[in-house]
Amino acid sequence: MNETLRKYVDCLRLNLRVISLALSRKWIGRQDFEASYDRLAPHYDGAWQHFLRPVTDRLLSQIPPEATGRIVDLGCGTGYAAWQLASLFPQCAITAVDLSSGMLQMAKTKFATTPATFVHLDMLQYLAGQEEQSVSLIVSAWAIGYSQPAAVIREAARVLKKNGLFAFVVNCADTLQPIYQAFRKCMARYPESLARLALPNFPRSGSSLQKMLVRSNFKTVWEQEGRHGITPPIDSQASMLPWLLQTGILAGFEHMLPLQHPGPVNAYFEQLMRQNNDLISHHYLAAIVRKL
Ligand SMILES: C[S@@+](CC[C@H](N)C(=O)[O-])C[C@H]1O[C@@H](n2cnc3c(N)ncnc32)[C@H](O)[C@@H]1O
Repeated sequence: MNETLRKYVDCLRLNLRVISLALSRKWIGRQDFEASYDRLAPHYDGAWQHFLRPVTDRLLSQIPPEATGRIVDLGCGTGYAAWQLASLFPQCAITAVDLSSGMLQMAKTKFATTPATFVHLDMLQYLAGQEEQSVSLIVSAWAIGYSQPAAVIREAARVLKKNGLFAFVVNCADTLQPIYQAFRKCMARYPESLARLALPNFPRSGSSLQKMLVRSNFKTVWEQEGRHGITPPIDSQASMLPWLLQTGILAGFEHMLPLQHPGPVNAYFEQLMRQNNDLISHHYLAAIVRKL
């Protein structure tokens, strides 16, 4: 079969597989993100967190130092931002929320002597349980894209006090291109291996996010859209997957394709990553917004 014909056939097989999975409602959901982050929690700081830190630090450094009362970190992971917030705002009570008990367990170790409250819950469920106008500052680093950004923004506006701040950084839909391109090519080449479907909620652009913020009565105090290069800490000929599966980049998505198991899909993914020398970069949107 020539290459063009093969592409058409692969595309047709993939579409049929997607329709069949959609009809049987095989979508990845919260429990898949939770399971992935529970699994990778012990490795997350060493394999990934330090790549995120420069952008997270920039966001935290721009927060006006005015918060008093309660601060909430949504999707706190292993607690990096929460820990920084505890030293920036020692007068405030910090609550760190995450879906993954494994990630929370790691976060707790950072707070051995500093008081903080840890909540094992989905971020929207947590916000729904909070009183109106009860929080001064909400922070969320690299996490709202796993939930529903518009709903999180709406709920944050309800829970924040007047003039309260919401500071967040989120991946854009086209982030980490070489990795997701290889993932999509594996889906097209091995559609029968596709076990579940995903509808990621990462925003497409700054303007789509701005619309959500304005609708919820937020005014932007500071914002930054950027690309942050990532150099994987491995030899160009070595396997990428053992590292990738510890980073969180494929969290949740690993339940769609059998990337964790040696086999043709796994081997094809590695081959595609080796052939693609494009820079891996995070495309992100960071903002600090004030509730009017
Ligand atoms: C990429 S990590 C970011 C962790 C941390 N904020 C940081 O900067 O390192 C995303 C985190 O969001 C959490 N998460 C994903 N979906 C969530 C949800 N619906 N509610 C609460 N936490 C969630 C994951 O468990 C994970 O710890």
